[in-house]
Amino acid sequence: MIDLRSDTVTQPSPAMRRAMAEAVVGDDVYRDDPTVLKLEQRAAELMGKEAGLFVSSGTLGNLLALMSQTERGDEIIAGRHSHIVTHEVGGAAQIAQVMVHPIDHPQDWIEADAIRNAVHSEDIHEPRTRLVCLENALSNGGVVPLPVLRSAYDAAKALGLRVHLDGARILNAALASGCSVQRIADCADTVTFCLSKGLAAPVGSVLTGDQAFIERARRNRKLLGGGLRQAGILAAAGLVALDSMTQRLAEDHAHAKLLGSLLAAIDGISVETERIQINMVFFKVDREKRTPEDFLNQLKEKGILTNPDDHGLFRFVTHYGIMESDVRATAQAVREIMEG
Ligand SMILES: Cc1ncc(COP(=O)(O)O)c(C=O)c1O
Repeated sequence: MIDLRSDTVTQPSPAMRRAMAEAVVGDDVYRDDPTVLKLEQRAAELMGKEAGLFVSSGTLGNLLALMSQTERGDEIIAGRHSHIVTHEVGGAAQIAQVMVHPIDHPQDWIEADAIRNAVHSEDIHEPRTRLVCLENALSNGGVVPLPVLRSAYDAAKALGLRVHLDGARILNAALASGCSVQRIADCADTVTFCLSKGLAAPVGSVLTGDQAFIERARRNRKLLGGGLRQAGILAAAGLVALDSMTQRLAEDHAHAKLLGSLLAAIDGISVETERIQINMVFFKVDREKRTPEDFLNQLKEKGILTNPDDHGLFRFVTHYGIMESDVRATAQAVREIMEG
């Protein structure tokens, strides 16, 4: 199968499997695991933060960021379509017990003025605004321009707020914007990034920030049952991901652009070409020619997997393991379905 559902479907590389088998491990709850400590340090350096915390998923990293920078009943500002608001099971309300103030963002990113307009005062009737949650790259494949992120951060700091960045795909964002990861991470106090997406590690994300914050997050991770023991087996793959997988993201981006241009030439397919900034291609299928269900089933019969459409929009995601030949085979299959 050519699996284009997500970049989370990647298989670990042979080097990762070797590193996992040979990892030196210890009990990480006692902070005895040298491989986890090494990964946390590497990740913190990459983001330009004091410390890091290895967590099992991006969702857990984001939740810990909320729990460790707010108190019950505080308000957080986040994009209406952000992953934290739409795809993390309402953990902000259920577990962190914060009130989410979702911001409409026509460009899909949060601008400084939106923060200034959303923030509540110290009036006793109003919830206390504590944290702004930014995202880059966006889960819709977009990349936020650095000056927009910077001014959002400056506006939040001027209002005395903390800023968390959901940087699940921050490495893709850095590559697409042609700037360093650290310059993006500098636009937030705390950052989560994922090892298990384009970087192809089997498990894990790292939450980064200042030392005091990471200590609170470590305690909250234990509270949620996320304190792992010989986690170095997983962290070893994460280290290989940081060593060997960041440069090759360019290949995924190029494959997405190629796929977008091949699909755009097919009658009945409209591609949001301007949105292809990282490894995601969004497109619509003319319903008069093929219903979404029919399109999806026929793709599967031809050996290509993707997720059902979201309000008429399909997504293909390129990743480690997808070759140029797969991209061309996918475009050919779509052409046959539309012409067949
Ligand atoms: C922008 C963004 N944030 C967070 C996550 C959550 O990561 P995980 O699936 O590891 O919980 C995802 C997952 O796709 C994501 O796209």
